[in-house]
Amino acid sequence: MYHSRAALFLTQAAAILPFCLGATYSRTSHVVGHSFYDNFFWEDAPDPTHGRVNYLNKETSRALNITYASEDSFFIQADATTTLTPWGPGRNSARIVSKKSYTTHVAVFDVKHMPEGCGTWPAIWETSLGPWPAGGEVDLLEGVNNQTPNTYVMHTSPYCMMPPGRPMSGISTSDNCDVFSTGFSGCGTRDTRLNSFGPPFNANGGGWYALERAGTFKKIWFWPRDDPSVPADVVSGGAAVNTDSWGLPAAYYPDDLCDFATHFAEHNIVINLTFCGDWGGNAYPGSGCPSTCFDFVNDNPASFGNAYFDIKSVNVYE
Ligand SMILES: *[C@@H]1O[C@H](CO)[C@@H](O)[C@H](O)[C@H]1NC(C)=O
Ligand SMILES: *[C@@H]1O[C@H](CO)[C@@H](O)[C@H](O)[C@H]1NC(C)=O
Repeated sequence: MYHSRAALFLTQAAAILPFCLGATYSRTSHVVGHSFYDNFFWEDAPDPTHGRVNYLNKETSRALNITYASEDSFFIQADATTTLTPWGPGRNSARIVSKKSYTTHVAVFDVKHMPEGCGTWPAIWETSLGPWPAGGEVDLLEGVNNQTPNTYVMHTSPYCMMPPGRPMSGISTSDNCDVFSTGFSGCGTRDTRLNSFGPPFNANGGGWYALERAGTFKKIWFWPRDDPSVPADVVSGGAAVNTDSWGLPAAYYPDDLCDFATHFAEHNIVINLTFCGDWGGNAYPGSGCPSTCFDFVNDNPASFGNAYFDIKSVNVYE
């Protein structure tokens, strides 16, 4: 049933997707090192989630080394030297948004290190630049205050459900993707591996997150750095990928009870690091972290020395 629907979709879409044969996709974006500066916008507007953050523009983030590129690394790193005054701006960081937007695609993120530490709220996700949540949102990596493992999430407008008992290795935390009936949390899938997030992810050298957005489903995979089952085309980041050989995903979101055409617009990739905020701040008291989130972020710059992304590459295939 899934195969025939996928085949039907591909037949209908053949005119606009000439490079998409079966589950083979061709690389259309290859972002490594300095090319992050060309492929992403820097969003320096106030944090919509009310974080204790000061998002810098491209020039300032570069000048202050909040973003930094080498041959094979791109860093987004918190200011780890400045003590903040409670009435002044928040901790310097960056939020970057891809210039290109995507519908049917595969995105592979090779991440060497993610921000860790009390008060941190890092995210790698995709969303529409139009009204939220009408265009939908897919979170590949997100969490607060070192909480592990990772949770994958879709956020949508009303009437988007996921069937129970889906073929995936993760555990559903909600089958309702509608943000308005879930207190904004959407349909989450918790990974079963502790090294999918935070300090254990970093201690293991990171890993790969991948999203396949097809006409009738979305799948998300995670492979820890030392996972022998990571597909060769994921590791190489080469010219093409074939998701048929990638095995059981960590999260699987089919369109059986959710009309993707009305719930998902074109998406841009967003990578951001905020502090406290609606989720991080509310979760702080139960996290085992000291003080209050606001005071901790203000008073302890040295605690943000590990609050950085080190991203090896972002490859997108269409
Ligand atoms: C950061 O990312 C999360 C991703 O899920 C998002 O909900 C939040 O609005 C973002 N914070 C900001 C404002 O950049
Ligand atoms: C900028 O950040 C990078 C990555 O953390 C680091 O290697 C480099 O030494 C920093 N440069 C300065 C001038 O601090």
